Amino acid sequence: MILITGGAGFIGGNFVHHWFERCARLSLPEEPVVVFDKLTYAGNPHTIGEHLQAGRATLVQADIADREAVRQALATHRPRAILHFAAESHVDRSIHGPGEFIHTNMVGTFSLLEEARAYWNSLEGADKEGFRFLHVSTDEVYGSLSDTDPAFSETTPYAPNSPYSASKAGSDHLVRAYHHTYGFPTLTTNCSNNYGPYHFPEKLIPLMILNALDGKPLPVYGDGLNIRDWLYVRDHCEAICQVLEKGRLGETYNVGGINEIKNIDVVTTICRKLDALRPRADGQPYESLITYVKDRPGHDRRYAIDPTKIQSEIGWKPAETFESGINKTVQWFLDHTDWIDTVRSGAYRDWLDQNYAERA
Ligand code: NAD
Ligand code: DAU
Repeated sequence: MILITGGAGFIGGNFVHHWFERCARLSLPEEPVVVFDKLTYAGNPHTIGEHLQAGRATLVQADIADREAVRQALATHRPRAILHFAAESHVDRSIHGPGEFIHTNMVGTFSLLEEARAYWNSLEGADKEGFRFLHVSTDEVYGSLSDTDPAFSETTPYAPNSPYSASKAGSDHLVRAYHHTYGFPTLTTNCSNNYGPYHFPEKLIPLMILNALDGKPLPVYGDGLNIRDWLYVRDHCEAICQVLEKGRLGETYNVGGINEIKNIDVVTTICRKLDALRPRADGQPYESLITYVKDRPGHDRRYAIDPTKIQSEIGWKPAETFESGINKTVQWFLDHTDWIDTVRSGAYRDWLDQNYAERA
């Protein structure tokens, strides 16, 4: 079996779905998963409910920084691989309160590495040889690009600009050091912005969809011309499966969607999709809700991934265009009001008040 930290979050939860669908599609044995997740505000067991109920997935609710809990989970479930998704992931939250980011992304990753290394050392023969620790990271560790800079490659120097990206950079360096120093069998992926089903509605795309449907302002930071390289989440999940199978130990692989789009264009695209699928009762276009608000401090201008290495070495490339992926995403949010209700907790409403009141 495999152990997935953060498997009740956005990408980890999609990965659990992808894993079982892929096993079926490729006629592979259905390999069970253990989801190790603290269930913070961003973790939602409903996301993977069908797999938990079917017994294919098991949930261990614990903190990756709790070494005893990690030790116990590894000893009980004896995974052949650890896929490390768990993190504090929202840049704006890291600006308001960086402490949790240091705790989970750096101290938590260190604790997990220590326990995973001890577990790996206890293995023998083919079990030890085949063990993998795959660390899921971000393109934000490379900093910000100008409009004319080449896209980030695996050799771009690290230059993180937010407490979030600095804490992810720290975790990447630890993973690298554990391979270099101890020979621990690591793989690292650095990915661009994901979007798709189960995306927590604090992030740009789901926030815009849900605010629009509620008739609320669509808050665009600064001039709206920042660029992100959007990747449909299932394409990312497939990349992780392939890196797990074929990646070279100690290597990092950049994963991107080849979809550089300005924020304002993302928002207007969503508005037009909703105009067609769910027109407003007052006949106004959703674009009339767009409101420019105070910028994010230290806002990175542009991210872009050069995916040459993963394409040539692993053979992965994204299946979705932004057009096909955003169509699926908007439709998913229209169809899954039950899931949306489960994440709109009191804690989420408090966050919206805190983040957007001060930008007015
Ligand atoms: P998310 O915030 O949706 O989910 C994070 C999950 O981790 C949640 O289920 C949460 O409960 C869990 N978690 C948080 N702290 C924990 C702790 N101390 N112990 C155990 N579990 C804990 O995040 P996401 O968007 O799914 O991102 C997953 C990973 O992918 C992160 O490492 C993130 O840095 C990376 N990443 C995300 C994106 C993106 O666009 N979302 C892009 C590139 C990389
Ligand atoms: O690049 C990968 C990263 O992508 C991941 O490592 C992070 O975990 C993930 O959260 C994401 O970070 P971003 O900061 O790029 O994503 P976010 O959805 O928060 O913002 C996307 C862009 O939209 C960014 O330029 C800020 C802008 N934005 C965001 C929000 C929430 C707005 O204009 N208005 C908003 O209300």
